[in-house]
Amino acid sequence: MKKYTWDAKDYQKHSQAQLGWAQELIEKLNLEGFENILDLGCGDGKITAEIARHVPDGTVLGIDNSLSMINLSKKYYPIKKYRNLAFRLMDVTNLSFLEEFDVIFSNAALHWVKDHRPVLEGVYKALKPGGRILIQMGGRGNAGDIISSLDKIIQRMEWDEYLKDFEFPYGFYDTDEYTRLLQKTGFKIKRVELLSKDMVQDGRDGLAGWIRTTWLPYTDRVPEGERDKFIDELTADYLNEFPLDEYGKAHVAMVRLEVEAGKS
Ligand SMILES: C[S@@+](CC[C@H](N)C(=O)[O-])C[C@H]1O[C@@H](n2cnc3c(N)ncnc32)[C@H](O)[C@@H]1O
Repeated sequence: MKKYTWDAKDYQKHSQAQLGWAQELIEKLNLEGFENILDLGCGDGKITAEIARHVPDGTVLGIDNSLSMINLSKKYYPIKKYRNLAFRLMDVTNLSFLEEFDVIFSNAALHWVKDHRPVLEGVYKALKPGGRILIQMGGRGNAGDIISSLDKIIQRMEWDEYLKDFEFPYGFYDTDEYTRLLQKTGFKIKRVELLSKDMVQDGRDGLAGWIRTTWLPYTDRVPEGERDKFIDELTADYLNEFPLDEYGKAHVAMVRLEVEAGKS
């Protein structure tokens, strides 16, 4: 599996949109306070820590396959101070838990994996009987306007040499595909929904910050010395077509796949 060079500190500064969506998702968990929870693709740990605040008598484990993210999470939320919160380097396609969790949660992470079969099989094994999942990720059509801008840019001669054999890396599933995968794995489905969301970024810099910290499948392939220029060009092209609003905010139309399911 291809690994990307996440800059955890930069991500921490430019992920307010992801945090806001995660907070809405955490509310939907209706936690009672004693659950054991797994957070898949926990990133810089701030969302995992937010979940831990909801379960003072439970535990939360955040896993991520980026060492930069896990190191930053452990630094900001040390086990000595956050007794019910831990972080571990692990890939979501290779989970090693057996009936340990009441709840498995994930925000803005699983679309980084193209084939979700091994993920869902590992998640099903990791749940206790009666356990449940609530996950949200990019779904079919997500960030389509950014992807169209990228498609145009990567054909320009300057970038073509780095991106010419680019393969779309994301697992942006639709509801039918995901329903079938959940059923095959044995889940009892409660809800599989595609949600349209307006992602708001703070002006041109906010948009560029989000691109720099999350569009790594593209930016990682551009040499470091030229990366800022590539991001500037993409930001300018996108804003040319979708200008800032009257408050100076940038908007990106996103589509999220949200899933609730359980294990009997
Ligand atoms: C956009 S960040 C989301 C982080 C956090 N959940 C949030 O909402 O802010 C995506 C995270 O997924 C992680 N990730 C991507 N593929 C993964 C995999 N195969 N196994 C574990 N983590 C993965 C990345 O390292 C990154 O930290």
